Amino acid sequence: MDPYTVREDFPIFSTGIVYLDNAATSQKPSQVIEAISEYYRRFNSNVHRGTYRIALETTEAYEDAHRILASLIRARNGDEIVFGGGTTSLLNALARSLSIQLGEGDELLITIAEHHSNILPWARIAKRRKAQLVVTDVREDGTIDLEDMESKVDSRTRIMAVTHVSNVTGAETPLREVSRLAHEVGALLIVDGAQAAPHIPLDVGGLGADFYVFSGHKMLGPSGIGVMWGRHDLLEDLEPPEVGGGIIRSVKLRPDVGELKLNVSYLDVPWRLEAGTPNIEGAVGLTEAAKYLMRIGLENIREHEGRLVRAAEEKLAGIRGVKIVGPRRTDRSMISFVVQGKHGYYNPHAMAGFLSSRNIAVRSGHHCAQPLVERLGFSQGTVRASFYLYNTIEDVEALVSAIRDFVGGG
Ligand code: ALA
Repeated sequence: MDPYTVREDFPIFSTGIVYLDNAATSQKPSQVIEAISEYYRRFNSNVHRGTYRIALETTEAYEDAHRILASLIRARNGDEIVFGGGTTSLLNALARSLSIQLGEGDELLITIAEHHSNILPWARIAKRRKAQLVVTDVREDGTIDLEDMESKVDSRTRIMAVTHVSNVTGAETPLREVSRLAHEVGALLIVDGAQAAPHIPLDVGGLGADFYVFSGHKMLGPSGIGVMWGRHDLLEDLEPPEVGGGIIRSVKLRPDVGELKLNVSYLDVPWRLEAGTPNIEGAVGLTEAAKYLMRIGLENIREHEGRLVRAAEEKLAGIRGVKIVGPRRTDRSMISFVVQGKHGYYNPHAMAGFLSSRNIAVRSGHHCAQPLVERLGFSQGTVRASFYLYNTIEDVEALVSAIRDFVGGG
């Protein structure tokens, strides 16, 4: 994989930006931009409704999108793939659907390493159903503390929701072990794959998850579309999180003799879980993004990012006061750090602002995972540089040299 050739497909790099905020969102290649534009110019129409030519073409493209995403993550087929608004929206939808299975005394287990989007939906349904939210700890390097988890999983545990890769440290969760713990007690394992699916070759059925959720916009696709993979039998049993048009085989309303009778039968999965007009242009764009990633190969992307992160780790560690947050020398796509000055840690936002003045984009603060950042002892937040297939060693050097100047000048 040659990142310099890859970059030619991404128009934004003609602006000269050093883009290291890929964990927030990725840039888009011309193939994705063109596919969306072509859809609007040539065959814009709704899906699963019209019988005219472009409506059929659009329906085929939309159904194809499910099949292509299935092959990206090696799901069995397209009917295990449900589209929704993104990771946050799909986790909320899943929590809503699963909440009816919960009651008083049940427990939902999350880790302290979760993004707010994998904390709040579970906290909310726990409260509504009078169930208990149980939180497991991390080790000092931000990796999941499996012993603590093991001690907290028992027959009351009904749902476990964990991240595959932390959006703060890049630490990877050992899903096989977590899955063993969940399934020993008959709990469902829900995995937030937002930071993993864009970077790690997946064989989703082999991970041990029951549901696996990720976003399109972090993997070269457009925003507003995400994917929920689910085990087929579980998807079939799942209560539709939203009801309305597009999911119905038949609705009969008989307001006769004073009593209203409603008879509803739903379509098969995945359509019964995608109420309303879906994000069609999103699916068209995401299809191109998935094809692009498959052409390059996720294993090549992972290896490339691993090299860049290790180089960043080594070079940043050479600057006085820099402290890397998270596990060291592992394959990951991001690096978080803080810098200790004479009078305490430098403000991460001030560092990000300085980097911005050099046209370098990073994220600073709590990264929507405040409990983790505080647990690790960095209540002011961190600076996070996150990489993708188009980043180069020159980007790493630009980052390191700017941090060196900031510290020297600060
Ligand atoms: N979840 C995204 C991030 O970590 C937005 O930046």
